Amino acid sequence: MRMVDLIVKKQEGKELSREEIRFLIEGYTNDTIPDYQMSAFAMAVYFQDMTDQERVEFTMAIAESGDQIDLSEIEGIKVDKHSTGGVGDTTTLVLAPLVASIGVPVAKMSGRGLGHTGGTIDKLESIPGFRVEIAEQTFIDLVNKNKVAVVGQSGDLCPADKKLYALRDVTGTVNSLPLIAGSIMSKKIAAGADAIVLDVKVGAGAFMKSIEDAEELAHAMVAIGNLAGRNTMAIISDMSQPLGFAVGNALEIEEAIETLKGKGPADLEELCLELGAQMVYLGERATSLSEAKELLKVKLHNGEALEKFKEFIAAQDGNPEVVNDYSLMPQAKDKKEVLAEEEGYVAEINADSIGVAAMSLGAGRATKESEIDLAAGLILHKKVGDTVKKGDILVTLFANDKDFSEAEALVHASYQFRKQKNKPTLIHEVIT
Ligand code: URA
Ligand code: CA
Repeated sequence: MRMVDLIVKKQEGKELSREEIRFLIEGYTNDTIPDYQMSAFAMAVYFQDMTDQERVEFTMAIAESGDQIDLSEIEGIKVDKHSTGGVGDTTTLVLAPLVASIGVPVAKMSGRGLGHTGGTIDKLESIPGFRVEIAEQTFIDLVNKNKVAVVGQSGDLCPADKKLYALRDVTGTVNSLPLIAGSIMSKKIAAGADAIVLDVKVGAGAFMKSIEDAEELAHAMVAIGNLAGRNTMAIISDMSQPLGFAVGNALEIEEAIETLKGKGPADLEELCLELGAQMVYLGERATSLSEAKELLKVKLHNGEALEKFKEFIAAQDGNPEVVNDYSLMPQAKDKKEVLAEEEGYVAEINADSIGVAAMSLGAGRATKESEIDLAAGLILHKKVGDTVKKGDILVTLFANDKDFSEAEALVHASYQFRKQKNKPTLIHEVIT
């Protein structure tokens, strides 16, 4: 087989076979296919797309290009959740104990990564004592015992995706539906998921700016998952503003605990119930999505989800007392209130700019080497649909020895006001 023939075949819009797709992914992973040929191929896919069958073969070839996590010793159906990237997205921290309290095993391996705030494991490190590095067998035993554990990612998952994503980044081929769908789904499959729930975000602060694009991506990923033998569902949710009020690390842990107490932000709770229902249904702990949602509401309001969170924290050596005393977590020395300079109804809060503001305060990593300030971040006091008068507090910023001016300017730039009130739709679509 020759790579140049495969490039031409795709350029002509023809369907590649399983063997051909394996050849190019394996060759690219072990460096026998050079970047320039792979970039020509990516561009051909960009213009010619892939068939459903090609998408599955492509996804599975990437999933099998490196280590794969074996979760078979864990009893039950392992359901994983993936979000295409939100700002202040605290859902994983709420969902893990919440669905575990219904008996769905949550075996979460989470990366640190770059971004506006840390990843889930960085956030959890705000809890004193909490350990994210635990041996694989201990991890499996913990999930079997408590139904939930979260560890830092080890092993080399999907090396083909790492290389290809970096290549796409510099060749104008990031924004290709089959390439995005394959990239995301391969990582979930390599991480050992039996079933997958996807939260595809749409809006100014999201990867997908229009509902049509988000729908297309969601449908493509659901099709790949199901064809690959992993039951998959998706929702399309709104990112015309950050989720909840808190954006940061310790601040989001606090928000997650409030939500587990049944006192969280309405949008965060609603999204968790929707995603949680899909997880419980795919985990076969309910026979319909509506039954699953009712079960979750009970656990959220009778304290069992919160108890599960404490058990999960304690099992990984964290201090479960944080649920009663938030001051046990890192606290920022300095704070600054950003006041409204205009009035009207909040029409939009650009989530991306809010994320950059949080990062400028130290909440996230710009490079792999950057240190995160777990106490840093911000709290939104006004959300879309709220009325604002001049001088009202829009946002409180939290940091240690930082200049607040950049974050303040970003907050002002991210808030859009309007004369008429509008309430955003949080869940645009449920795809089963
Ligand atoms: N996220 C991914 O993991 N891969 C993509 O290609 C795009 C977004
Ligand atoms: Ca939040």
